[in-house]
Amino acid sequence: MFAVPLTAPGSELRPLEPHHAVEYLAHIGRARENVDRFVPWAAGAADLDSARAQLQAYADKQAADTGRLFGIWLDGTLVGGVMFVGFDTSLGNCELGCWLEPAAQGRGLVTGGVRVLLEYALVERGLSRAEWYCGTDNARSRAVAQRVGMTLEGVQRSSFPHGGVRRDMEVWAVLADEWAAPQA
Ligand SMILES: CC(C)(COP(=O)(O)OP(=O)(O)OC[C@H]1O[C@@H](n2cnc3c(N)ncnc32)[C@H](O)[C@@H]1OP(=O)(O)O)[C@@H](O)C(=O)NCCC(=O)NCCS
Repeated sequence: MFAVPLTAPGSELRPLEPHHAVEYLAHIGRARENVDRFVPWAAGAADLDSARAQLQAYADKQAADTGRLFGIWLDGTLVGGVMFVGFDTSLGNCELGCWLEPAAQGRGLVTGGVRVLLEYALVERGLSRAEWYCGTDNARSRAVAQRVGMTLEGVQRSSFPHGGVRRDMEVWAVLADEWAAPQA
């Protein structure tokens, strides 16, 4: 129900909700090492209670229209997701994020999911700007931003503490008219 097919065979995007907590925790167990290297997302789901709380936090954001969380299923298994980390209709801005377990990388799953979210934010909801933040050492995340037509706007130096060091963060963004242009 409420599934959007992605281009890779057997893949689809669906809302990821608190009732998925058991499935989500099992998936995060497979993804944890890959994700923890770059972002504190998997660390937020250390056990069933914290996994459910993480999903509930996004359910609360969705109810307030300030964020949304979607899972990516491949052949019926949850393998990753994409989200609106932030969604601000008063400013017309949103920020996207993503993650995958290692076996699901290299199939265009996140690029496809991000395109669905950009269409929703910049066309259906009429926002003006969608942002993407990634560490300067995160080549795969940077490649997603490039693939969907975002522009590198700059680097925030010493922006983000993770893994015991402060990381430099690249800021990527696409504006509504830039997103619409290639579709015309
Ligand atoms: C960031 C992350 C989600 C990217 O995963 P990914 O598999 O590289 O991204 P996609 O799912 O979009 O797949 C792109 C790959 O599939 C390939 N591909 C195959 N079919 C494709 C298609 N139809 N469309 C686009 N790419 C396709 C691309 O060539 C690319 O492979 P390559 O890098 O070997 O050239 C993943 O590395 C990850 O989870 N990292 C840890 C968490 C993280 O860093 N999150 C982001 C925080 S900013």
